[in-house]
This record gives sequence, C-alpha cells and structure tokens, in this order.
Amino acid sequence: MEQPIVHTELHGRVALVRLASGNPLNPLTDALIDALVSAMQRIEADPAVHATVLTGSDKAFAAGADIVGMAPLDYATAFSEDLIGRNWDHLRRLRKPLIAAVRGYALGGGCELAMMCDIVIAARDALFGQPEIKLGIVPGAGGTQRLPRAAGKSTAMLACLTGEALPASDALACGLISKVVEPDALIEEALRIGQQIARHSLPVIVAVKEAVDRSFESSLAEGLLFERRLFHAGFSLADQKEGMAAFLERRTARFVNR
Ligand code: CAA
Repeated sequence: MEQPIVHTELHGRVALVRLASGNPLNPLTDALIDALVSAMQRIEADPAVHATVLTGSDKAFAAGADIVGMAPLDYATAFSEDLIGRNWDHLRRLRKPLIAAVRGYALGGGCELAMMCDIVIAARDALFGQPEIKLGIVPGAGGTQRLPRAAGKSTAMLACLTGEALPASDALACGLISKVVEPDALIEEALRIGQQIARHSLPVIVAVKEAVDRSFESSLAEGLLFERRLFHAGFSLADQKEGMAAFLERRTARFVNR
C-alpha cells in the first residue's frame, strides 16, 4: 500500500497537517499539492475543526515547486495546463484559519505556501526565500505579490532579485512572520495558537479571516464597509448573545457556532 504523503491528526478542534513526502525537503509535486488540497477540503467540511496547523519536516517546510517535473516544460504546456493555478488556487479559497509552522527551508513555492497561510510562525533555523531567479524563472505562486505586502517592497525586491534567503530573525523583523521559537517548541506553540483561535465561534472566526483578507483586496472605504456589514450581521448570532452575556456574568462563553 502507498504511504500517505500528507498526515492529518486532530488535537481537539485543531488539525495538524504535516507534509511528509519521501523527500524531507518536500518538493511540492502535483501529488503533494493534490494530497494537501484533499486534506484541507476534508477539514473545511468538518464542523468540529476550527483551525489548522500546517507543517513540514525538521529539514524543510518545503523547498519549492517540483523542479524535476518543471524542467522539461514548455510555455504551451505550462499555460494550457495552468501550472500552479490548477491545484494551488484551491488553497486560496480556504475559509478556516491556517497557521504555518516552519522549520528549515521555506523556499520558492514553500515560502509562497507559507504566505498563503493566515499566520506564520517559525523555528530559529527557518529560512525564507524566493530563489526562482536562480532557476531562470519568476516566482509563480504569489511570491512577487504576497512578499511585498507582507514584508515591504525593498525586502521583497531584495529577496526576489538576489534569490538569497532571509533567516527567521530577519523574517520576523520585516513582518513576514509573527513569531520565532526554538525548534523543539514549534509544533506546541503553533497548536497553542490554534487552540486559542479554535475556542471561539466558528462563524465569527470565518468572518474575521474574510474581513482581514478583504483589506488586501479593496480600498480602505470598501474594506471598512465590508467590516461594518459583518459586524452588524454578527448580532444575528446566538454566539453574540452568549459571548456578551458570559462577559457580563464573568464566566467563560459556551459558543454553539451559530
Ligand atoms: N524540486 C525537486 N527536487 C528538489 C527540490 C525541488 N524544489 N529541492 C530539492 N530537491 C531534491 C534534490 O534534487 C535532491 O534530489 P536527489 O537526492 O535525487 O539528488 C534532493 O532533493 C536533496 O536536495 P539537495 O541535495 O540539493 O539538498 P541540500 O540539503 O544540499 O540543499 C536546498 C537543500 C538548499 C533546499 C536545495 O535543495 C535547493 O536549493 N533546492 C531548490 C530550491 C528552489 O530553487 N526552490 C524554488 C523552486 S521553483 C518554484 O518554487 C516555483 C514557484 O514559485 C511555484
């Protein structure tokens, strides 16, 4: 029987999804991305799961898209078969929060996969980079678009034009990631953040993610209007009544996710 290349385990309401291809560098082959998309779609459909931690091996979150598979491609094939778009784009549409827990290399598509997540935390040994220029290509899964938004233009230009990787401490300083921890503490810390999120009401979690994401897609006025509409809609939830009552009664809220 074939070994699964993506492992999923549940920690209460948080799923831990591990990329575990035969190669600890986790080259992001179609098979690996397809398996990740399937795992994530199962999680999206499971109302008991409120958040996911995505991680790789001790050596790499992922060292990028599969160079072996891409090397012989020509333009017509890449374009007509929608290389990257055909499977990676499913990951953009996930509605529940995704926390990347990065050890080792997060290069090319690996860095782009981390940036598709909602929160990125890393071990001290992590390295983030867009080395595609060294392969004679441009990043293809969002590197030139998400890196400047996350880290600023100068850092993004430096990373994409030189291909040199940023250590975790620099990634933290420029805002690409939220936290750096010791390697042994990485999964525990990512799960702790996941549990902190997951104790809240699922429709509110999803609305918060949608609203923050909207800030990257709209003008400030449009984004503020979108947020205000979600804020008003929140008063239709039983969990708004419960959350505010619990505060006033000085007890922990018991959310019902409605
Ligand atoms: N795709 C396919 N295979 C890869 C790979 C990748 N992205 N990265 C590593 N491998 C393979 C190597 O070919 C090698 O295979 P063999 O054992 O069969 O020879 C194996 O993994 C181990 O790799 P190394 O010997 O190179 O390991 P290392 O520890 O010396 O170096 C590394 C590690 C610095 C991560 C180096 O492997 C590396 O630079 N990898 C490529 C990084 C890269 O360029 N990523 C961008 C890919 S393009 C992309 O992602 C496009 C996009 O935007 C979507």
